[in-house]
Amino acid sequence: MKKAMLNRKSERTYTGLPLSEDHEKKLIAYLEDDKNRIGINGNTIAIYYQKVIEQKNEKIGTYGIIKKAPAYLITLCKNTSEAMLDCGYVFEKLVLYLESMGIATCWLGGTFNRNKIKLVEGPATDEIIPIISPVGYSARKKAMMDHLFRKMAHSDSRKDFDLLFYDQEKTVIDDTNLKKQLAYVRVAPSASNQQPWRVVMDSEKNAHFYIHRTPKYGEQLGYDIQLIDIGIALCHYELATGNKRYFKKTEKISIEKEYWDYVISVGS
Ligand SMILES: Cc1cc2nc3c(=O)[nH]c(=O)nc-3n(C[C@H](O)[C@H](O)[C@H](O)COP(=O)(O)O)c2cc1C
Repeated sequence: MKKAMLNRKSERTYTGLPLSEDHEKKLIAYLEDDKNRIGINGNTIAIYYQKVIEQKNEKIGTYGIIKKAPAYLITLCKNTSEAMLDCGYVFEKLVLYLESMGIATCWLGGTFNRNKIKLVEGPATDEIIPIISPVGYSARKKAMMDHLFRKMAHSDSRKDFDLLFYDQEKTVIDDTNLKKQLAYVRVAPSASNQQPWRVVMDSEKNAHFYIHRTPKYGEQLGYDIQLIDIGIALCHYELATGNKRYFKKTEKISIEKEYWDYVISVGS
């Protein structure tokens, strides 16, 4: 999974070839195992696998940004903060599992037309489709749109390490091993590459996750897309460190900044 975290990139241009029989079987088995879809807060995220029947409809559905994807994964869950975090965490684990088999994906929260999605069941009135992703094989040659999107979102770069990760006392982290682990969080994908996660490590090596929101970002979507980003970062942290004791801290940590909101902690 560590290799998958480093290798994964959003793929918007596909070969059009369907998933191999073996890959499709593995994907379906993964989705059928409920425990793979349970998040940190206990929400089960529904994930549907749907093949593209008409490429023309696909083009309309993703405004032409995704090319020749043979199938899509569609998430469905309640529109609560806890469920958004869980959606990020659960879906990134799946994305990385697929990456480890050489299957490409691209998180989509904004550039798809929700009205074009037809599900056999749902969504129920309190449910939304926060995220979909194409699934397929990467076309080596990228379409113009892919290059353009990557350039616009500065997808190939990440914020400086010292802007994202802090030590409770020293404000910058210099423990080499810890830095190596946090580097996996740094490469995580996020909506428009905003990287809203901030992490404070305390003296007992507990990680305290905060969100530094981009003002007004995603307001028109009607759900908290940047909390999905935090769920993704937590997934990377768990896979890099093996730590999964989630808790809410009660005491204040000294370097908290007023424009950060506290989300959750992970015990060492
Ligand atoms: C929650 C979320 C929503 C995203 N929504 C879109 C989207 O609507 N359209 C799109 O082309 N890319 C979308 N992306 C992909 C990001 O732009 C991409 O992850 C980021 O630029 C970093 O690039 P990378 O994934 O190649 O590392 C989304 C990513 C995340 C995590």
